[in-house]
Amino acid sequence: MSDDPEYKPETHTAQALGWDEPAFQGIVPPIYPSTTYARPADNQARYGRMYSRDANPTYDHPEALLNTLEGGAGCRLFSSGMAAVAAVFQSLGPGDHVIAPEVTYHGVRTWLKEQGMRWGLKVDFVPNGDLVALAAAVRLGETKLIWIETPSNPMWDIDDIAASVAIAHGAGARLAIDSTAASPVLSNPIALGADIVMHSASKYLNGHSDVLAGALVTAQDDDFWKAISEYRHIAGAVLGPFEAWLLLRGMRTLHLRVKACSASALAIAEHFHGHPKISKVLYPGLASHPGHDLAARQMKGGFGGMLSLRVKGGAEEALRLSGACRLFKRATSLGGVESLIEHRAGIEPADSPVPPDLLRISVGIEDTGDLIADLERGLEEV
Ligand SMILES: Cc1ncc(COP(=O)(O)O)c(C=O)c1O
Repeated sequence: MSDDPEYKPETHTAQALGWDEPAFQGIVPPIYPSTTYARPADNQARYGRMYSRDANPTYDHPEALLNTLEGGAGCRLFSSGMAAVAAVFQSLGPGDHVIAPEVTYHGVRTWLKEQGMRWGLKVDFVPNGDLVALAAAVRLGETKLIWIETPSNPMWDIDDIAASVAIAHGAGARLAIDSTAASPVLSNPIALGADIVMHSASKYLNGHSDVLAGALVTAQDDDFWKAISEYRHIAGAVLGPFEAWLLLRGMRTLHLRVKACSASALAIAEHFHGHPKISKVLYPGLASHPGHDLAARQMKGGFGGMLSLRVKGGAEEALRLSGACRLFKRATSLGGVESLIEHRAGIEPADSPVPPDLLRISVGIEDTGDLIADLERGLEEV
């Protein structure tokens, strides 16, 4: 078994906590496709499982592994990252006040603006990383949750997790964080005081662009966590057992992949920083990035595989660059083994704060030189 707490996270992921298949000691855990579980004559659910909406044993492995990696008190998988996001907000009550950043994954912003308002939540958006604005937005007795995302999509601003926690807790609120871009390899927000960590597991955790999943990890097994768990049980936004199994398989290489993406992203950012056709490289690993020192303190061993390029000449030239790429795939999403490039303003809603000249890049695990050459080739067309 590799579930000894003394082992390093790399060991936990490689061996998926060392769980074996119980019947024949296969070293890969099985998929449990059954939706329901037979009971003995006394009619009691012998193994604590009755019906597989949220009780499928295939969830146990990836949930236990992610919980270990994040240092949590519990983990729940969902059918997508957005289902996990919705579970957090819908576990609040009508009238509760939420504060979220202005620049964040656009699905979260849209959910809060449209569904959140319908749910009766009161929502304020504050500039990313502005602790004074965050503190000023707090409504004592009303603010129940502060949501942050760091590094945040797609400008890669850095939020101070511990300072945001202090503001939330000072107001009796919880701090929830979308840690998708950092992954548990580069950040453990619970160690900095966060209450809930959210991941779109469709990204780095799975890593192969073939599973849609979301996850929440809690710092405390408290009433809010019980409400979230009950919400999942009754709302039923669960993933299928095959997806849960694929997710675990993907997670086994999480550390290798994230470290490779991160090293390559840094090299790409450094290469294009100061390029005559690029007005700005947005990447927290660059010393010139305003959040660099903070990121260096609160992230571990790298700054992630996501960066954005602002192309001189606006949307037209940005699209010319992405259109000329042969290796980078023009596709949305992130965190897979293959590199993606995306004109972000083109896919975000009309209220998007993203500038039209911005290309978001998800760096995969290809050869770094090949990726740089592909972007250089694209820039020749600009
Ligand atoms: C940072 C971030 N959070 C949440 C989500 C939503 O995740 P999903 O697509 O799995 O619903 C995404 C998806 O792109 C994302 O990038």
